[in-house]
Amino acid sequence: LGLNDAAKAAKKLYFGTATNADQWNDTTYYDILKDDAEFGQITPANVMKWFDTEPEPGVFNFTDGDVIANFAKRTGKKLRGHNCVWYNQLPGWLQNGTFTRAELALIVERHCFELVNHYRGQVYSWDVINEPFNDDGTWRSDIFYNTLNTTYIPLALRAARLADPGAKLYINDYNIEGTGAKATALKNLVKDLKQHGVPIDGVGIQGHMIVGELPTTIQQNMEEFTALGIEVAVTELDIRFDALPPTAEGLAQQKADYETFVQACNAVPRCVGVTVWDFTDKFSWVPSTFPGQGAACPWDENYTKKPAYDGIIEGFRSK
Ligand code: G3I
Repeated sequence: LGLNDAAKAAKKLYFGTATNADQWNDTTYYDILKDDAEFGQITPANVMKWFDTEPEPGVFNFTDGDVIANFAKRTGKKLRGHNCVWYNQLPGWLQNGTFTRAELALIVERHCFELVNHYRGQVYSWDVINEPFNDDGTWRSDIFYNTLNTTYIPLALRAARLADPGAKLYINDYNIEGTGAKATALKNLVKDLKQHGVPIDGVGIQGHMIVGELPTTIQQNMEEFTALGIEVAVTELDIRFDALPPTAEGLAQQKADYETFVQACNAVPRCVGVTVWDFTDKFSWVPSTFPGQGAACPWDENYTKKPAYDGIIEGFRSK
């Protein structure tokens, strides 16, 4: 019984992972990735982002994204699209350009439409908006907000809906795992969008956590989101050590933390699935961003399952 088997047995849609295709020549990695018992869903970690998909204005390139989408199709896995609008990993022309309000509105609309339209019928859910808020719940000061104020949100969501009416449209963020200012800001945004008839189907709770530091309100927070009439998904789960190497006690705590997080999703009917932000420490994003930290994934860098793996299974079993 694998992680996806456990998720399905708990009536969730999937257990999934983020991936990069340049990791697939590692045959051990590839064999685990393609195993339907472990993963029923994948998310491209990089190649559907703006810098890759629209490298020059109006010039779209889906070559790298198609590799991921075709793998998902071939292996019968669900696909999460990631992402349409994000302040990071933008192409130079957009990052360094200056645009009027009208120009940037068209650019956002065109990008979202073309990207989502290209993958029409292949994507379960799209992170249409990624990381729009600061940790204190104020709007992030990025090119989109600074030029368009909050109007880029409905613009992007409407373009995505038009492009693929069958895809669930999400807003995805981190540090919204427990209740607090940032989660509240996102709840208020969802309420506002719904009141104005703007399409919004889900919130992605990323879940980049530190061992021993989980908030106590994860389930309550998910319930508050779903009470707004949307679904939630855990979209980028990993639970890192802030000092290495992990001790045996640390690994036991990490197991408990994975179990707690998955159990929260399990207890909330409209939490549809859980995705880890890659499954092996060998390819985790953590050490390059937080030097000296890591060991965040359920498999270690030699593909040995950590206690965290069993924590996920137990999380799906508990009610
Ligand atoms: O592609 C270049 C390569 O040509 C170059 O030689 C190399 C040298 O640094 O860099 C490569 O680009 C890297 C890129 O990943 C592709 O591998 C960037 O440096 C690196 O910064 C980038 O990191 C990605 C990060 O987003 C960017 O913020 C991670 O792989 C990716 O996992 C991570 O994912 C994000 C989610 O999209 C949103 N939520 C947080 C999550 C973790 O940061």
